Amino acid sequence: MLKEEKTLIIIKPDALQRNLLGEIISRFEKKGLKIVGVKMAELGDAILAEHYSHHKDKPFFQSLKNFMKSSPVVVMVLSGIKAVNAVRLIVGPTKGYEADAGSIRGDLSISGQANIVHASDSLESAEVEIKRFFKPEDIFEYKKSDFEFVYGEEERNELE
Ligand code: CMP
Repeated sequence: MLKEEKTLIIIKPDALQRNLLGEIISRFEKKGLKIVGVKMAELGDAILAEHYSHHKDKPFFQSLKNFMKSSPVVVMVLSGIKAVNAVRLIVGPTKGYEADAGSIRGDLSISGQANIVHASDSLESAEVEIKRFFKPEDIFEYKKSDFEFVYGEEERNELE
């Protein structure tokens, strides 16, 4: 049974400062992903410590928090069939200098830290991360007019 998944991305300070916001959003839109939540935010210590708690013992933890506080970020919730995996593939692996050309990090980053975008790594983390950054009323359920062309008939029947 196919189901629309929701996943969270954070467009990081390096992307905003390098004027890459439109380019990044455009890649997700062109894929056929639906934007169901979007906001600009300045991330503070508390939310960063929570979001990156699995990195708290890493040597780069403080530097990562400093980087994420260096300018506002744009946080988005994207929805679509298998969205978690689809978004991970579009974003590419952590280090820009190791990411394949064609991915966001492969095309736009050459750093392990300034890697443009964060994306949820599983459906379970997506659920936690979406709750971390968005109130339920700030997530929008709506039908997009390109639905009939983004998906095939069987997929549409399963999703509706
Ligand atoms: P992301 O995978 O979104 O979440 C963890 C972040 O930590 C990662 O992106 C990078 O921004 C950062 N990071 C990972 N590894 C390193 C590293 N070796 N040095 C500095 N920052 C890192």
